[in-house]
Amino acid sequence: MNFEYHNPTHLIFGAGSLARLGEAASRQGKKALIVTGGGSVKRNGTFDRAAASLKAAGMAFAECAGVEPNPRIATVRRGARIAREEGCDVIIALGGGSTMDAAKVMAAAFYYDGDPWDMIYHGQPAPHVPTRALPVITVPTLAATGSEMNMGAVISNEETKEKSFVQAECLYPVVALVDPELTLSVPKDQTAYGVCDIITHVTEGYFNGVDGTPIQDRFAEGVIVTAMEWGAKAVADGKDLEARAQVQWASIVALNGWVNAGTNGGFPVHMIEHTLSAFHDITHGAGLSVVNPAWMRFAAAHRPAKFVQFAERIFGLKAKGPEDRDGALQGIDRFEAFLKSIGCPTRLSELKIDDALLARYAQETLRIIHDQNGRLPGRPAMTEADIAGVLRSAL
Ligand code: NZQ
Ligand code: ZN
Repeated sequence: MNFEYHNPTHLIFGAGSLARLGEAASRQGKKALIVTGGGSVKRNGTFDRAAASLKAAGMAFAECAGVEPNPRIATVRRGARIAREEGCDVIIALGGGSTMDAAKVMAAAFYYDGDPWDMIYHGQPAPHVPTRALPVITVPTLAATGSEMNMGAVISNEETKEKSFVQAECLYPVVALVDPELTLSVPKDQTAYGVCDIITHVTEGYFNGVDGTPIQDRFAEGVIVTAMEWGAKAVADGKDLEARAQVQWASIVALNGWVNAGTNGGFPVHMIEHTLSAFHDITHGAGLSVVNPAWMRFAAAHRPAKFVQFAERIFGLKAKGPEDRDGALQGIDRFEAFLKSIGCPTRLSELKIDDALLARYAQETLRIIHDQNGRLPGRPAMTEADIAGVLRSAL
């Protein structure tokens, strides 16, 4: 595919780099809005260190605490209001993907008089695609989403049970200040879900993208193998800084547009998972861990060759040829076993989801995103029955 690539985010990566927050923020403005989640950064001292760095650089700041996992549009509205009332001119997101996503949309909502939900894609082009936002500095405390260095954000609407995304150039953070030390306190389960999210970001492009992308394939395989190897170490020993750093870097690389450049694939596993999160408020990476292997088995039945390549290159298996479905399935089995080994769920029942609403999840997924034929974009494009079938196979 022809493609353009532009990622303007200035990345500062490395242990101890939190100390540079004040310096980075004071280049952008005079008063920051610090956005945080449910309190982990307060408990583990990260907030105090961030505040000290800002004060040392002469920056004033206001605060918007309490961004929830699967961040809600009401919280985005609240944050934008605080930023206006307090006269902030830069936003600092100190937290996981939820905090970063909420902060990005607050930054755009700052300049928009309508409801920020207008920016979220749900079913048709959003009524308002933002073109202007306050500068955002992301300081991720969890390696997972890649939000720190991309132009996307995912927001939920509790009232309508919708969870969907906005993508806009103005949402690229100006600076991603990535300090792997901040992830040392992430609990085992969230660490594992993050690893699954990272891997799924590249498997989406790998399996749904166009053919003939040998460099992108190797990039993706590099991210998968690295995330598996170092992710398992980070789960086994959360204090292993080197493992934390490798996983953090994998998170950035997986979804800053580079690995998937020119592949032009859909993100069907994510779209299905977002519906499950919208209905059941489950953790994104845990939902992906259930949906991804089930989706892979469905897609491999249509198009085994890429899954054979996956089995051979990721797990060193030897298939009988590109059409060897059993060889393809063995690779998927190994992938699922890896997810289990780091403590991720692989069945819907583990997420306390039963078969009562399978058709509804499929309809909702398609209502939010579909191609001209009403199907979920991906290879293959999926009908309502396909989506329900994948979920049924994961019960
Ligand atoms: O809220 P706090 O108290 O900070 O606790 C969080 C939360 O409970 C905790 N946590 C984060 N850093 C920690 C920590 N606990 C201890 N020590 C630390 N250092 O972890 C829990 C989960 O946090 P959350 O931010 O929800 O996790 P994640 O980073 O996985 O973000 C998930 C959200 O991002 C969206 C997902 O859909 C979901 O809403 N995504 C965003 C994307 C993007 N912008 O590009 C792409 C992804 O595919 C994804 O859809
Ligand atoms: Zn994801």
